[in-house]
Amino acid sequence: MEVDASLYWTLTRSLCNMKKILSFVTVTVALFSAELLQALPHSYFQSQKHQIYKTEPQFTEKYFTQTLDHFNFNSMGNGTFSQRYLITDKHWKKGYGPIFFYTGNEGDIWEFALNSGFITELAAQHRALVIFAEHRYYGRSLPFGKDSFNIPQISLLTVEQALADYSVMITELKQQLAATDCPVIVFGGSYGGMLSVYMRLKYPNIVAGALAASAPILSTAGLVDSRQFFHDVTADFESIAPECRKAVRGAFHLLKELAEFQDYDRIQSEFALCKSPSSAQDIHQLNGLLRNAFTVMAMLDYPYSTHFMGSMPANPVKVACDTMMSGSNLLVNLRNTAGIVYNATGVLTCFDLYSLYLECADPTGCGLGFNSMAWDYQACTEINLCYESNNVTDMFPPMPFTERDRELHCSQRWAVVPRPDWLKTQFWGDGISSASNIIFSNGDLDPWANGGVRKSFSSSLIAINISGGAHHLDLRSSNDADPVSVINARKREADIISQWIKMDRTRLQQLP
Ligand SMILES: *[C@@H]1O[C@H](CO)[C@@H](O)[C@H](O)[C@H]1NC(C)=O
Ligand SMILES: *[C@@H]1O[C@H](CO)[C@@H](O)[C@H](O)[C@H]1NC(C)=O
Ligand SMILES: *[C@@H]1O[C@H](CO)[C@@H](O)[C@H](O)[C@H]1NC(C)=O
Ligand SMILES: *[C@@H]1O[C@H](CO)[C@@H](O)[C@H](O)[C@H]1NC(C)=O
Repeated sequence: MEVDASLYWTLTRSLCNMKKILSFVTVTVALFSAELLQALPHSYFQSQKHQIYKTEPQFTEKYFTQTLDHFNFNSMGNGTFSQRYLITDKHWKKGYGPIFFYTGNEGDIWEFALNSGFITELAAQHRALVIFAEHRYYGRSLPFGKDSFNIPQISLLTVEQALADYSVMITELKQQLAATDCPVIVFGGSYGGMLSVYMRLKYPNIVAGALAASAPILSTAGLVDSRQFFHDVTADFESIAPECRKAVRGAFHLLKELAEFQDYDRIQSEFALCKSPSSAQDIHQLNGLLRNAFTVMAMLDYPYSTHFMGSMPANPVKVACDTMMSGSNLLVNLRNTAGIVYNATGVLTCFDLYSLYLECADPTGCGLGFNSMAWDYQACTEINLCYESNNVTDMFPPMPFTERDRELHCSQRWAVVPRPDWLKTQFWGDGISSASNIIFSNGDLDPWANGGVRKSFSSSLIAINISGGAHHLDLRSSNDADPVSVINARKREADIISQWIKMDRTRLQQLP
């Protein structure tokens, strides 16, 4: 379904800065038909009642004429594509204030802009220009339109091309806006945070510093135990109550027994499935779909309700545990717990196994639709996400996903062979001690945290812990329900960023 983009965004650019509400109306917006549920990748809208607020700042949506292939002068001639970006100069001291640049990740750029209010709050303090750039092959920045996901057109989707896009865009926009002396700070969350780190590693001539929130640069480079991720998801639920973990494990055990007896009718009715499962593959899919609900809730365990990757109640992990422990039928409890994620609107009459969840090269979820194809390709090439659950170090059914499984999927789907060591070589892995001016922030509720940098490498490679924080909570707007840890983290980040800006102003003034 096509949605009129400008109307849609005027109506929904609402959910980020609740402070400066001018007026609101409630509108039911039927959004994209696909419900995109995903973990590291983000982009998911549902048909739902939105409260529509008119808020500041008003981003302007623009397109940048971008080089298709930065690294091969023959392959595409001087071909270009239109890359979307959002910009606001509302706070900017023209020609002097810094530039805060969000390195867009795997989804529609509006979703990140609407869920990263800290950046605009900080821009007000620093009189900064704010730009959110969309990653190539996501949202509306499709280099070859609908053909972008064909082979070989997909081949221009690499981390390196994305970084070059951002560097070229920053350089040209600085010229156009007479901002050549303005220091640039990059921001990003999750994969976007990884890109911020890489920008500082590869283009320190262009960016003065990076705030990388919840950026799993180590695990995606293959440097962390493959059991870490689902272990840490489990720990979140266990910390609510050990009985919660027990209930989840018990429910998956019951499901396994029913499957062993091939009691498919009972499985269909207990889980309200649209179609009766009929094979081991269907059961595997059901396990994946259920596990994914826990992943999403652990990542988005914010202390207030949110509309990011779908609608989440406040403290969803607590809500899930209350649901898991609510009645004596563990299977129904498990179904209702999955419903917190998949049935947030309350309009689902049954769960469709293959339309609510897609298995792909990222066991933490790829989402659905075009964005999921792009992310699957990235997980098939540069980005390692071979995470397993095993029912021992976590509460989920054993679902291995080895390098071999990844190779099989990726050769069949994309005719590519992953290169597990490339990210480590190209972006330094854990050997980053010679880099500078990077903040690695992580919340201890976030299952991605231990895939990232938890200890400072030096006085300019700084790790910040946010106790009680979920996935890049610090990038979100200030909220009355914020734990004091995130308030302090943001203060510290603001101080460090001020220093970077000062340092870089001196450097820029000394350039010939
Ligand atoms: C490259 O750009 C030049 C100048 O804009 C144009 O004349 C030429 O046709 C382009 N070449 C290709 C191969 O696209
Ligand atoms: C979705 O939620 C509604 C409202 O709570 C409920 O009536 C319905 O049964 C749920 N659907 C499924 C498939 O569980
Ligand atoms: C998890 O392991 C226990 C044994 O410790 C077993 O009884 C149970 O069936 C396993 N659950 C699954 C889903 O494999
Ligand atoms: C953050 O927490 C982790 C896990 O508890 C710990 O290992 C690490 O040392 C902490 N880092 C900082 C900078 O406090």
